[in-house]
Amino acid sequence: MIETHGGQDIHNDENFIDDFSVTTNYLGPSELAVNHIQTKIDLIQHYPRQDQEPYKTNLEKFLGCENILLGNGASELIDLVIRVLSRTKKKFYIPHCVQYKEYERACINNFMVRVYSEKEADVICIINPCNPTGDFIETYTLLDDKTYIIDESMKLWDKKTFRNIPRGVYVIHSWTKFFSCTGLRIGSVICPSKDEYDKLRYYQTPWSCNVLALEYLDKAIQDDEYMNNTWDTTTAIRKRQKDIIESTFNKWKVHGVDFISWMWIELPNEHIAERMYQIAKANHVPVRWGKIGYNVPKYIRVAVRCDTSFKHLINSWLECMTPRLEKVDIKTLKCHEHIHTDSGETLYMYLKSLDTNYRTIPSIIVDKYSRVIIDGHHRFYALQKLGIKEIEVTMIDYKSMHIIVNPDNLELNINDVLQAGETGALLKPKTTRHCLHVKKVLTPIICLSTITIF
Ligand SMILES: Cc1ncc(COP(=O)(O)O)c(C=O)c1O
Repeated sequence: MIETHGGQDIHNDENFIDDFSVTTNYLGPSELAVNHIQTKIDLIQHYPRQDQEPYKTNLEKFLGCENILLGNGASELIDLVIRVLSRTKKKFYIPHCVQYKEYERACINNFMVRVYSEKEADVICIINPCNPTGDFIETYTLLDDKTYIIDESMKLWDKKTFRNIPRGVYVIHSWTKFFSCTGLRIGSVICPSKDEYDKLRYYQTPWSCNVLALEYLDKAIQDDEYMNNTWDTTTAIRKRQKDIIESTFNKWKVHGVDFISWMWIELPNEHIAERMYQIAKANHVPVRWGKIGYNVPKYIRVAVRCDTSFKHLINSWLECMTPRLEKVDIKTLKCHEHIHTDSGETLYMYLKSLDTNYRTIPSIIVDKYSRVIIDGHHRFYALQKLGIKEIEVTMIDYKSMHIIVNPDNLELNINDVLQAGETGALLKPKTTRHCLHVKKVLTPIICLSTITIF
């Protein structure tokens, strides 16, 4: 199966606003570096130097280390390092439960075998901070006889520590993310020694790294204003946006160390996560859903972006969660369960007895996408029998809400309800007893109803 990465939902969206699905720098590319490569366009007619000078030395000076090899994004180097190591080392270990998949993929593609402890492994791949979870290890404890590949791409956002580079290991950096150039691509690996560097160079595909990407990085690492702006503002914006999310959507939990360029958000269940992903995409501000690529369906990953785009994203989510009164043709509604006819008849008789100038009833609650009735089957029965053709109902986005279908039967889920409504294979009367999970209290869903006149 082809691995799915972020950054794909923007394509084919003519009204695209901002991409929350990738972890790139919210500032966009360095303007200084972009302007610079425009002046270097003539270089494209020549092969760049095979030794990657002067870019290699300049980056080594910037990071304070030696034996750097540059590549076409970090992805190329992950593949290269593992391809070369796999010639002699056969067992790999990945300590994180959820992480950027390229390490695992490269190991498996090179016929390495996964083991489940550091001691058993020959090669250990660590991503720090971990993408997507945002978990951060402050200090490494490394075993002497093992080979470590440590990905510190996301540590570049931490001005204080990103130059504290572990020695004697492979350290991978994606500059693509920090300098926001996903379409250009540039990555580097710091090798444990000159021998390892020479070996990687020997096996690297020639000219994989293009000259404009090299020039871009070379200039970007001189762009102090851009880097300081990134370091000075990303953490503060992330904190503000995290606080807004956690206070707006109770039960959403934002994970990850504070300096990173994204939030890893745990939602109450996978339906809500899927819906939030769909709504963000439909509103031209795609986020990453944890199910796709990471296999953790309760989570979404949301990049730090400017406040205007963020506000648009939050408003799109809030909008879908807000119940609305809407007049509908009663024939378009679908039941999901049978009723107790006696109760339906009693309600019918009662409604019939009311003064026809002033007949009110709590609105029926309906899922706006499927038109399945969520609450109010007896009201629906009585109104139909009264010959009512149109009625105001409360439309909700059933999948976006933290709803318990029946607190006495937690096995029953919202897909069962929708399926019954869509197929007509109705559930028994009173199978569902929908409640809203508000803070720690379960509230009957009828609290969303409004008194309507019919
Ligand atoms: C931790 C990590 N390393 C490396 C990469 C790959 O970076 P590049 O786009 O430079 O190949 C990514 C991309 O998502 C990443 O998250």
